[in-house]
Amino acid sequence: MSDVSGHAEVVGGHAEVDVDLRGLADFTANPYPYYEKLRAAGPVHTVRTDEFDRVWLVVGYDEARAALADPRFAKDWRGLPGAPVESDPIFLNLLELDAPRHTRLRRLVAREFTARRVEALRPRVQQITDELLDAMVPAGRADLVDALAFPLPMTVICELIGVPDLDRDAFRLLSNGVVTPTSPQGEMEAVRAMNEYLGELIEDKRRSPGEDLMSALVRTRDEDGDSLSPDELVGMAFLLLVAGHETTVNLIANGVRALLGHPEQLAALLDDPELIGGAVEEMLRYDGPVENATFRFPREPVRIGRRVVPAGVPVLVSLAGADRDPARYPEPDTFDIRRDAQGHLAFGHGMHFCVGAPLARMEGRIAIRTLLERCPSLAPDAGAGELDWIPGMLLRGVRGLPVRW
Ligand code: HEM
Repeated sequence: MSDVSGHAEVVGGHAEVDVDLRGLADFTANPYPYYEKLRAAGPVHTVRTDEFDRVWLVVGYDEARAALADPRFAKDWRGLPGAPVESDPIFLNLLELDAPRHTRLRRLVAREFTARRVEALRPRVQQITDELLDAMVPAGRADLVDALAFPLPMTVICELIGVPDLDRDAFRLLSNGVVTPTSPQGEMEAVRAMNEYLGELIEDKRRSPGEDLMSALVRTRDEDGDSLSPDELVGMAFLLLVAGHETTVNLIANGVRALLGHPEQLAALLDDPELIGGAVEEMLRYDGPVENATFRFPREPVRIGRRVVPAGVPVLVSLAGADRDPARYPEPDTFDIRRDAQGHLAFGHGMHFCVGAPLARMEGRIAIRTLLERCPSLAPDAGAGELDWIPGMLLRGVRGLPVRW
């Protein structure tokens, strides 16, 4: 591992960045020791990665929490020098907007995405989990991502939003094309196809509304008669669908991976399934699905610790780095399902705090609890070889998790 101990130390021969994280095979599999060294050296650094030429990275818990709630950090990149004048509707979403437009859209979605609507899904989430496990259990071994962690949240979010069964495989391909593109050309095509697909879906909901969330969003009007424009509906549908199925999969798979790596914690949860609520919070803290929050851009120079982050530069706030900060969580590298993990930043913080957190928590608790009930002898499948890690610094997880029971 590179020495990252000096605060603004130059490693890897790139004078313009503090730390070069490119090509480090072990960084994707286990970035925590790197975040630890960076944090010990200071709360903010410039780094170069395989994905980003130069990005500012905030790593301390207090600093990360403050940055997430700081209105000086903008999310809307459209006003930045060099930004394209035109933006596709799918980017008109909450994570790429600031107040007052963000406030307005968030209020409109919050009216429909209520705790009651989420709670009403509980029996259906249990039923989907049971059906997936009915199909999985007889074989005695499975890829947990394929068999449970992916199809559960995917089915739930598609049913919630009202994406017809027939379209789901096509939608998965489009979503992968936008979120993990293989080329700029491929990304442009996926963005265009996604816009078109969602535009048609919304038109269908307008013509023949159902009980789903998207139909409700098409209809919704607040007290002032405000409603979502057609482009805003596309942006909202895109974010809910992508955020709904690219993240919860990793809560379930990372959580099970943590349990399998800590047999005494697994035994404790098998012994007392009522611990599941706290266990899921600890899974989110210890190895959450979102490694770094989405980009923020300072509107003006912002001082963090002893450094000043210049205006307009891309900033990543490291949720993984913050949630392992020993100043906030004693022995942060210890996975302990009985610890008080409250206050973790796995769902972000401030005005962009995750809209789907109650749904994700419910899915994670039901999935892992039911899995352990049905497969109490769950163990890693030793013959399965190396884990395949999701590349990049935004999402954290594996593409497959071979298990047996
Ligand atoms: C365990 C699963 C999940 C995790 C760890 C997670 C994490 C996050 C994080 C960290 C953010 C803030 C990002 C930032 O500030 O840059 C966020 C925002 C968001 N999440 Fe989630 N999420 C999860 C599941 C979901 C689900 C199931 C949905 C939808 C049903 C969802 C919808 C959203 C939306 C709409 C936002 C944007 C909120 C805003 O900008 O105001 N998420 N999520």
